[in-house]
Amino acid sequence: MADIILGIESSCDDTSAAVLRDGALLSNVIASQQVHKDFGGVVPELASRAHEQNIVPVVSEALRKAGVKPEELTAIAFTRGPGLLGSLLVGTSFAKALSLSLDIPMVMVNHLQGHILANFIRQADKPVDEPSFPYLCLLVSGGNSQIVKVTSPLEYEILGQTIDDAVGEAFDKCSKMLGLGYPGGPVIDRLAKLGNPDRFHFAKPNIPGLDYSFSGIKTSLLYFVRDEMAKDPQFLENNKEDLCASFQKTLIDILMQKLIRAAKETRIREITIGGGVSANSGLRERLVAEGKKRGWKTYLPEFKFTTDNAAMIAVAGWFRYKTGDFAPLDVAPVSRMADY
Ligand code: KG4
Repeated sequence: MADIILGIESSCDDTSAAVLRDGALLSNVIASQQVHKDFGGVVPELASRAHEQNIVPVVSEALRKAGVKPEELTAIAFTRGPGLLGSLLVGTSFAKALSLSLDIPMVMVNHLQGHILANFIRQADKPVDEPSFPYLCLLVSGGNSQIVKVTSPLEYEILGQTIDDAVGEAFDKCSKMLGLGYPGGPVIDRLAKLGNPDRFHFAKPNIPGLDYSFSGIKTSLLYFVRDEMAKDPQFLENNKEDLCASFQKTLIDILMQKLIRAAKETRIREITIGGGVSANSGLRERLVAEGKKRGWKTYLPEFKFTTDNAAMIAVAGWFRYKTGDFAPLDVAPVSRMADY
């Protein structure tokens, strides 16, 4: 009998449901919440309410698109954390209710594990080039920046991580500072394509080992822009593209420097990226270029699977489902997960 997994993702501001049959994706529906746009960031209370409104229609649509009836489901995979607690509660409670009513098991998934396994999302009509184990994943999102050694679908070791801000936060905060809007990553990415990445230089952190730091670069950009604006009030307006290109290049340099070191130290040549920032065109190009230069085999998640989605939760859940590691009905979501 086929394994038909329903994946549910509700960790932040996207309500998503996906259906997977024996590892092949049948549907992936995402309802993104527009209600946060005016606030310059996600408002947790509004996010929970929007999830509550979206969850039933999103799951129904995912089942309809997949051509699967609820009674045909084998298991439900849901995001347990990390994320916003109120948002996670909606997905978790929905998973419990459905699991009870259909009498099928639930599997809990670490959201970050989903991003790490995004390269395993196989669409029924397309073969996928899957990384071989062990591989390194540069996991870069709004809440995390980590280099993870992935030994098997369920075994992870964090080799390095940010000691302060995540790289996505650096994109978002600096975009806000420059008056470019939220979320910052896509805006900076777009403007960076039009600018000169070597025009301005920002100080890079000097952090030991494989850890990262992204809080200093924010300050560096802030002081630089403030000083230039004092000399020329039009500076920002006239140099937006070059500022974005140079700032983005600095972030990518910081990310790549440690990733190259991790690859050397572990002698692992299978390299992937995941998380929202893995949508960044500059980072994607650089990873491929470094891979060619260094003899790595590199894997980029499909653009649509870089941001939050339930397809990656269903895939991660399927791997866990196969081990028989089911979640108890008293499981509670968690906003933070220090480990995998
Ligand atoms: O993984 P994600 O969707 O949510 C979590 O943080 O879990 O990541 C969101 C982050 C935001 O910081 C956003 O600015 C960033 O991903 N992002 C990008 C791009 N698209 C999204 N950063 C750089 N370039 C992009 N094209």
